[in-house]
Formats: sequence, C-alpha cells, structure tokens
Amino acid sequence: MTMTGIWKTVFVSGGAGYIASHCIVELLEAGYDVIAIDNFSNSVSGITGESVALQRVEKITGKSVKFYICDLTDREKLAEIFSKHKIDCVIHFAAIKAVGESMEVPLHYYRNNIIGAINLLEVMKAAKCFQLVFSSSCTIYGEPEYLPITENHPIGKITNVYGRTKYFIEEMLKDITRAEKNWNIISLRYFNPVGAHPSGLIGEDPTKPYTNLMPFIAQVALGYKPELLIFGGDYPTKDGTGIRDYIHIMDLAAGHVAALTALQKSHLRLKAYNLGTGMGVSVLELVKAFEKATDTKVPYIICGRREGDIMSMYANADLAKKELGWSAKLSLEEMCQDFWRWQTMNPKGYRTATNDNTNQELIKKSDD
Ligand SMILES: NC(=O)c1ccc[n+]([C@@H]2O[C@H](COP(=O)([O-])OP(=O)(O)OC[C@H]3O[C@@H](n4cnc5c(N)ncnc54)[C@H](O)[C@@H]3O)[C@@H](O)[C@H]2O)c1
Repeated sequence: MTMTGIWKTVFVSGGAGYIASHCIVELLEAGYDVIAIDNFSNSVSGITGESVALQRVEKITGKSVKFYICDLTDREKLAEIFSKHKIDCVIHFAAIKAVGESMEVPLHYYRNNIIGAINLLEVMKAAKCFQLVFSSSCTIYGEPEYLPITENHPIGKITNVYGRTKYFIEEMLKDITRAEKNWNIISLRYFNPVGAHPSGLIGEDPTKPYTNLMPFIAQVALGYKPELLIFGGDYPTKDGTGIRDYIHIMDLAAGHVAALTALQKSHLRLKAYNLGTGMGVSVLELVKAFEKATDTKVPYIICGRREGDIMSMYANADLAKKELGWSAKLSLEEMCQDFWRWQTMNPKGYRTATNDNTNQELIKKSDD
C-alpha cells in the first residue's frame, strides 16, 4: 500500500488503544508519520509512560511513533502538542466505550467523549487543520428498521449513553460542517471489530472487566473462565442467538487509510461510511468457527436476553467499496486464528510483555 496525496503527518487520539494501534501499523506502512496521544484510561503504559502497544507497533513496522500522554479534556496540553507539529489530518479514536458502564456513570461518559471531541475540534480549528476521520459506531443506528443497514438508515434511537455520545458527536460534526466550509470529515461507522495483527504482537487487551465477545470466548478456551454466557437463545434468528457483523481489525485499519486517501482527493464536508463485511454471523456460529479455527473447546450456557441488546445487525458496506475503494477481505477463520495467536502469546494482555525493549513491570490503569 502506498500513500497518495501530499499529507504526511497524522495525529491519532487514543493511539494506545485496540483499534488505533492496528491502524497506526497501516498508517506507518502507508508512509505517514504518526503523532499519537492517550491518557491510558483503557490501555497499558510502562512505568516510564510509554505505550506498550505502540512499542510493539514500532517493532512490527520498524518505524517510530511520536507519543504523548495527554487527556483530551486537557485542552491546553492538547493545544501545546498541536503547536509543536505540523499536523495534516486527525483520526479521533479516543473514547470510553463500555455500554454497561456508560449507563452507570453517564456524566463521566459525556464529559470524556463529548468534551474531549469539542476540545479536539477547537484545537484543530485553531491550528487550521480541518481534516478528520472520526470513529463512529453502528450502535448509532439503534434497533434496525431494515437489514443490511445502509448509511441513510435513521440514526439516534439509541438505548445507551455510550451510543448517544457517538450520535451527539456525529450531529455536532453535521453542524460544524454546515456552518464552516473548511471542514473535511469522514465518519466511519464500525460494526464489530475482532481479531488481531497476524504477528500476535498487538491485539485487544483481554483483561478488561466489560469484555467483548471474542476475548470472552478466548478466555473460556484458555480455561480462565468456565463457560461462555450467551445472552438470548430464543431470538427469531437462524439458531436463536444474536447476529453481528464481525470485521477483522486489519480490514478496519485499512479502511482508515482509504478514508484519508479519499479526504485528500476531494472536499467532502462530511460523509459517513459503514465499515463491515456485510455478513451476519450468529454468536453460536462464531463459537463454532472459533473452535474449528483454533482446535479448542468453548463450553457455553444460554441465558436470558439482556435488556437493550439488539437481535440482529449487519452492514451494507457498498458505499465504502464504491467511494473509498475499500472492502473487507479477511475471513471469519482468520479473525479467530489471529485473535488466538495474540491471546496465546499474551495470555494476560500487555501486562505479560517480555519482548519489548525493556522488561519493566507494567501497570494497567483503568478508567474509573
Ligand atoms: N471496539 C469496538 O467494538 C468499537 C466499535 C465501534 C466503535 N468503536 C470506537 O472506536 C474507538 C476506539 O475503540 P477501541 O476498541 O480501540 O477502544 P480502546 O479503549 O482500546 O481505545 C480507546 C483509547 O482511547 C483512550 N482514551 C479514552 N478517553 C481518552 C481521553 N479523554 N483522552 C485521551 N485518551 C483517551 C483510552 O485510554 C484507549 O487507549 C472508540 O472511539 C470506540 O468508541 C469501537
């Protein structure tokens, strides 16, 4: 993959996180320089404040990443970083994202995600940088009115605070791009990113309390948890379990490079694209695919439905194919195999890191 256009430097918020770290691999390999910030609220730092994930990214790519510890709610520090570099475009990943937690501490979510986004947009504007790729989510569609979901499906009927922060930010982006013609923004609505970089060096940290499905499955396969709890086995779906559109994290990462290329080619003001495979996979199908791809056993228990859970959700990703020239390429089997490689090489996530430059004891900070 080669870089097109003249932009050189990408500022990445939330750079130490799961999706950003994989995306930075793709950005570096496409020839961009990367300046990343993170507050480590949901990622791992070494004792001298470095990002363990980004050290691994440097190892994978042989290139370096400029990293700062910075909280997006600290507008002054953010402005200071912007004043030190000539930034061509921004990818805004930083957010807290645990749906259940967002219902318990809504103000914390609004402050972090909404104020963080406002600060970033204001600092960008002051630095005359108007190019942005925003991490949005399929959660903004709420309960689907039709499937597969296209970008013009109604948004906003959301049942959780986390999703509302994403929706409010998209609405804010609509308003600023309507009011000020300089802005050139792509909002990427991710479906369900899973898997890991094929090296096994970076991946989703499996030790978070509010775990996603694939880390949960892998922890059961490793014997760390006795069984997988499947919420709802009586949905009117092919096997009674919920359906999602799982997308390999490296496909998702490639979507960001495609979005940057598109922003450089044309002034879009604001466009939203779904990033998904277009394929609906049930929880049981994912469990079976995981067992087959990794030669493991994943015992499970089917329990009652969880309030607020959506039965079925998968993307129509034709627009991204047509306008960004991007489509998902990697299979469900590769998602499972790559995740398993990361999980077995790093059973306790980044905290067991021994193959970095140092053997320092690592600390994991949580966002509460
Ligand atoms: N993983 C998914 O399933 C999924 C799906 C749809 C959308 N998204 C969105 O994609 C983005 C990245 O998600 P992820 O899965 O990589 O999550 P992640 O938690 O691994 O990464 C987010 C990073 O942002 C950092 N962060 C949070 N608040 C910050 C702040 N105020 N200042 C600085 N850094 C801050 C965290 O420490 C973390 O390293 C998020 O915006 C998320 O809402 C994720």
